Amino acid sequence: MPRLGVNIDHVATLRQARGGNEPDPVAAAVLVELAGADGLVVHLREDRRHIQDRDLTILRQTLQTKLDLEIAADEAMVKIALSVKPHLVTLVPERRQELTTEGGLEVAGQRERIKTLVDLLHDSGIPVSLFIEPDLDQIKAAHKIAADYVELHTGRYANARLLKEEQSALESVAQAAKLAYKLGMGVSAGHGLTYRNVKRLTQIAEIVEYNIGHSIISRAVFVGLDQAVREMKHLLN
Ligand code: PXP
Repeated sequence: MPRLGVNIDHVATLRQARGGNEPDPVAAAVLVELAGADGLVVHLREDRRHIQDRDLTILRQTLQTKLDLEIAADEAMVKIALSVKPHLVTLVPERRQELTTEGGLEVAGQRERIKTLVDLLHDSGIPVSLFIEPDLDQIKAAHKIAADYVELHTGRYANARLLKEEQSALESVAQAAKLAYKLGMGVSAGHGLTYRNVKRLTQIAEIVEYNIGHSIISRAVFVGLDQAVREMKHLLN
């Protein structure tokens, strides 16, 4: 059964909208874990637009499952990760103007730079995942710099309008997952996944974890966080 990591950035986005202290992503994390999620995902952005350093510190101390910290592939952010010591660090591309993480990290074109960051994290015993497009060259590059996991960006699959486009995107994810698995890396997937589109992906046996945020938090507004997480967990079974 694949694992479910729930991204709670959107709870923090709602809090930041008023600059106060509710809703608290730390409280959300407790409910998410009680509902059966296998881990929590947070993205500490350079501009701190949602998750704050304080959230990270408390989550690290209170989580019972697993903390996956997403950060930009940047030395200053890696230093923060080294002090927090999450269970996993996921390196993602980051642009200040974007609404969400658009596209995967370019690993093949900047292997040496990313490898330096991966090595720093490994020296502290922290496993590293790279959030990349389902592209075979990116998978090979991730393997060459000793990434432990790859998280396949499912945006093209999720945004496909035509059945043919969706099928081709699904095929790319499947091929990338198979190669990553064959090379010995753990495979997860995320971005734009919903209660409607996640089911088809679960046919890809190599994907052992799904990281899902927006869709779960959106449903939680109507049915509550507990039910929203349970329903997604059920779909992954
Ligand atoms: N995985 C990664 C690496 C991401 O950057 C995001 C978006 O923050 C997600 C998963 C979750 O995407 P969504 O909110 O679209 O489910």
